[in-house]
Amino acid sequence: MKTNNRLLKVSEYHFKTINDIKNKLKAKNIKITDLSIGDPDLSVDKSIIDELVYSLNYSDFNKYPPYDGIKELKLKIIEYYRQIYFVNLELDEVIILIGSKEGISNLIPAVCDIGDYIIIPNPRYPVYEMCANLWGNNPYKINLREKDDYLLNLKDIPNEIAKKSKLMIINYPNNPTGAVANSQYYKELIKYCNKKEIILCNDGAYNEIIKENKNPISILQYDNEKTSVEFGSFSKTYNMTGFRIGYAVGNKKVLNSLLKIKSNIDSGQFKPIQCAAIKALELNRKYVNNIRKVYNQRRKAVEKILSDKKINFYKTNGTFYIWCKVPENYTTDEFCEELLYNYGIIVTPGYAFGKLDNNYFRISLTVDEKTICESLNKLKVYN
Ligand SMILES: Cc1ncc(COP(=O)(O)O)c(C=O)c1O
Repeated sequence: MKTNNRLLKVSEYHFKTINDIKNKLKAKNIKITDLSIGDPDLSVDKSIIDELVYSLNYSDFNKYPPYDGIKELKLKIIEYYRQIYFVNLELDEVIILIGSKEGISNLIPAVCDIGDYIIIPNPRYPVYEMCANLWGNNPYKINLREKDDYLLNLKDIPNEIAKKSKLMIINYPNNPTGAVANSQYYKELIKYCNKKEIILCNDGAYNEIIKENKNPISILQYDNEKTSVEFGSFSKTYNMTGFRIGYAVGNKKVLNSLLKIKSNIDSGQFKPIQCAAIKALELNRKYVNNIRKVYNQRRKAVEKILSDKKINFYKTNGTFYIWCKVPENYTTDEFCEELLYNYGIIVTPGYAFGKLDNNYFRISLTVDEKTICESLNKLKVYN
């Protein structure tokens, strides 16, 4: 059978493989603590669920929604950006997505011709590389280093690659390292991308998952000319990974191209989910701060155990991940298998986020503190 050759460059989504392993172990009645995928365990606020159910009464609930999203939700996102980031957006500077994963994939053909280069970080959320390959583009990976606080170093981009690139995807707060960006860094990136005529895209899925009582930042705060775009997601902040919804904001022209792709590929998110997202944005800011509190408490508890077990990790307050070094004398696979088969713990091997110089693994803090601590406390001390 003749199939798409580009698929040869695309591997099965890592978390599907992990799910298969998990199901096999569960079938054998082995107790598993899954610290791999970033799928929040916290409950969905009642007002969100109530609205989801209530909107089934709307006469048009089952109809095709507008391709760019319902106006009421777009207005809420505009209000959110104004109140939280002091950024003014117009209606055509917002598009509602089925999730940021979908939007990121569709952004690629919206910006790039087949064969163009896309600058992406390494390690990274796997979708950037896979979708670049799927759409016939060349992902160019820039290594993130701990000594740079995992901020993509612009000096690492060869000039000839910048010339061939139309898109740069960054992601702060960062999955998998947890690194957070700052205003100075965003300004530098924007200046660089404007000079090189590269569309800059920040995947801001974790914008709100930061230290308690801190103000989140958006790349658009530092982009007066709005040349960049930012993706947002309801998955991580509002625990809505299953009834999915996200958005893209920023440069009108880019969003208009994205809409061209989207309207030919999908027909918008189910209206009741869009209505539920409105309720999410109407939640008091105490809700968001409480989510941060929970993850930061888990982070502190896990960091203490990791230190006791002599496992090195990157100290940060961004996202709900901890980026850890595999102990010496282990390969990543040996260590992850030891965690799985000796202790019933699943983590994500660092290579799921790209080919790396060192051995890493990622812990997701999306399991309750007691369970995470009980399982990690059983580990031996790795000298
Ligand atoms: C960096 C990053 N971006 C996007 C997503 C996907 O978000 P959504 O559920 O909105 O598609 C994830 C999910 O893990 C992520 O880690």
